[in-house]
Amino acid sequence: MITTTYNYQETLAASVKANWRVEDIIGGDKRLDFRKPFMPDSLARTSAMDFLTSAEKVLLNQIRGYGYLYTFGLVEEFILPFVLDHVRPHLNEDDYRTRALLQFASEEAKHIQLFRNFAIEFEQGFVTNCETIGPAEDIGKAVLSHGPLGVALVILGIEWATQQHYLESVRDDNALDQQFKSLLRHHWIEEAQHTKLDTLMVQALTDNLTPAEIEKGISDYASIGGLFDGGLQQQVNFDLQALQRATGRILNKAEQERFRSIQLQALRWTYLGSAMTHPKFLETVGEFSSSARRQLEEMAPAFC
Ligand SMILES: [Fe+2]
Ligand SMILES: [Fe+2]
Repeated sequence: MITTTYNYQETLAASVKANWRVEDIIGGDKRLDFRKPFMPDSLARTSAMDFLTSAEKVLLNQIRGYGYLYTFGLVEEFILPFVLDHVRPHLNEDDYRTRALLQFASEEAKHIQLFRNFAIEFEQGFVTNCETIGPAEDIGKAVLSHGPLGVALVILGIEWATQQHYLESVRDDNALDQQFKSLLRHHWIEEAQHTKLDTLMVQALTDNLTPAEIEKGISDYASIGGLFDGGLQQQVNFDLQALQRATGRILNKAEQERFRSIQLQALRWTYLGSAMTHPKFLETVGEFSSSARRQLEEMAPAFC
């Protein structure tokens, strides 16, 4: 049984207060500065790549920034229908619940648009094109073919990961491009409410579940994680090709191997490990099942 203190009315109030417009964050004179890195090094992990020059590290960092825009856009494309499906059967029961969850869905639709606008500007300003896994719609369908508890846990983890990324790595990094940093800050501000609403969704979904149903939820979570991991392995190769095009230099075999191993772990940490190890995520899981928490803690090191 989850003992969270979050509630819909307070979350809605915080959400309405924090609300921002896409136009306030990008467009006009608000442009990306391609002389600067976009991502903190704890997520991009380029500093360990001693076979790259400083300029090449910045290019790879920006390629990873583009991947971040795309991957979060993709994730939010399946969060949106999932939240709408969760709210719809109980529209008339609690006005604050309905409004808070609809606000959540509306914010994710806005974030999709925000990430898309940044991606368009990136494509116009970057030296080469960058391929990404997908199509997003197919990945979203594959994710949503799993049971609701597994999907809700994936969403809960990724929302907490956005908090971890900003607070631990972005906020105090003054070398980052101001525009990209502003995107991550504004996303963090609204995601703070999503973590609470996701916790309430998991609470609703785990109320009165049998151990077998919980087991199924964890196995769905692991299966979605495996699906993502396969995508990340493909993304590493796309990023390697994009870097080689951007620099006009083909890395030798040993360098390519190191690139793949460092960058695969960097991607795993960004999208899986930082979510699975978040203390608030594990706390919520532990509240409905201590054995599920243990299973996730055992899975996590492979993604860190
Ligand atoms: Fe979002
Ligand atoms: Fe969110």
